[in-house]
Amino acid sequence: MTLHVSLVGRRNLSVEIYRQVRDAIVSGALRPGDRVPASRELAAALDVSRMTVTIAYERLSAEGFVVSRVGDGTFVGPHPAQGQRAVGRREDGGALRARREWQSIPLPTSFTQPAAFDFRTGIPDRSLFPQAAWRRLLARALKAACETGGPYGDPAGHPDLRAAIARHVGISRGVIVTPDDVTVTNGTQQALDIIGRILLRPGDGIAVEDPGYVVPRRLFRTLGSRVVGVPVDREGLVVHAIPRNVRVVYVTPSHQYPLGIAMTLARRRSLLAWAERHDGAVIEDDYDSEFRFSDRPLEPLRTLDVAGRVIYVGSFSKTLLPALRLGFMITPPSLRSAAHAAKFLSDWHSPTVTQIALAEFLETGGFGRHLRRVNAVYRERHQLLTTALATRFDADLELMPSSTGLHIAGIARKASVNEIEALARRAADKGVAIQTLSFFATGERALAGIVLGYGGIMTTDIEEGLRRLEKCFRQVTYPR
Ligand SMILES: Cc1ncc(COP(=O)(O)O)c(C=O)c1O
Repeated sequence: MTLHVSLVGRRNLSVEIYRQVRDAIVSGALRPGDRVPASRELAAALDVSRMTVTIAYERLSAEGFVVSRVGDGTFVGPHPAQGQRAVGRREDGGALRARREWQSIPLPTSFTQPAAFDFRTGIPDRSLFPQAAWRRLLARALKAACETGGPYGDPAGHPDLRAAIARHVGISRGVIVTPDDVTVTNGTQQALDIIGRILLRPGDGIAVEDPGYVVPRRLFRTLGSRVVGVPVDREGLVVHAIPRNVRVVYVTPSHQYPLGIAMTLARRRSLLAWAERHDGAVIEDDYDSEFRFSDRPLEPLRTLDVAGRVIYVGSFSKTLLPALRLGFMITPPSLRSAAHAAKFLSDWHSPTVTQIALAEFLETGGFGRHLRRVNAVYRERHQLLTTALATRFDADLELMPSSTGLHIAGIARKASVNEIEALARRAADKGVAIQTLSFFATGERALAGIVLGYGGIMTTDIEEGLRRLEKCFRQVTYPR
């Protein structure tokens, strides 16, 4: 690797060379044992005298940053003082500041901390991922991309994948669309980013479910939107509580996140009627309803919508892996070109090789077979947890009806938000990771309760996890 040293506009050249090589070592860009350029070479490259470089190297050597081996060269020393601050660098990390909306947004760290009994939501079972099939598909896709693909692809997505997704949502969700309606995205998250950017002006309001998915809320705020939480009852989002000055609503009707309930048909109709009355748009996030354990699913909003007011968003994060970063959105024709333009300006397009691989997986029936296989596993876990909540935990929690997806929720019958949060901390100490409903609250109206995901816990570990959780509930002392 070539070490980049810049002397543009610098006066004391030796000090500058010393500083930049030292910074490269301290930051870890150069690691112990790496060769640094010979003084003659660096002097020639920088067009300075060799003495200038030698003075810098002698200082680096005296401080233990580099060692010279006669006849061999100069190398980074075995224990350079990594983590030391670079000479003259500002204490506060630099003069630049991000816009206020971007400051102090927490990054996801929770999934790097493993739990022995992991009931966190949002994770599918990685051991069920069809590795061998995917490896073959990727190898073929790579060949196809190299042989036939252009240097860049279509921002809307690879044509084979758009066609395969159009067929897939038609079969699995009754959403009848053409490939032109589909835009491939890097997961739901990018779809929401694109939709937010093409629909919302700074200061516009967007209604989200309360409790609801936290990450989109943060995203919409960074776009300058006013994010307004609207309560969810047993039928779904309370449509009449949407504030007057809001035109865009983000919902999870198939499997409310995090309560797990399905929005009733009456509520779906009322939400669409709201959109028509208010010239509004509805973002329908259908992130995990491919896993279905009973009941016929209700019609997606997108299917009920006759006015072109719904943008339907889907993801392969739960059915395959979040790490693939593959999702899609189905836009009404009126938004199509703006959506494609926003995708283009964001990242040109999603990676071609994975798109081709997924297209083949969908088209050859591999995805359907995979879904049937994992559905059976999740069905058993869903059954175990539902039964446990409805029996052993019934005195503490009211089970929220849910027949889809990868998590269920229980609302505390007696415990307060603080008690449930304390319980979750006690459970974590016992190796049991759960999420509290209060974590998903938009504002002051936090619900007391818990959410249990079953994608990240092996079926055989569920009983022990529940036993430990039960013990934690026994320790809650309710006020009389
Ligand atoms: C409500 C909801 N929508 C969508 C997703 C998937 O997001 P992505 O497709 O960006 O991975 C998740 C993941 O946890 C989710 O909870």
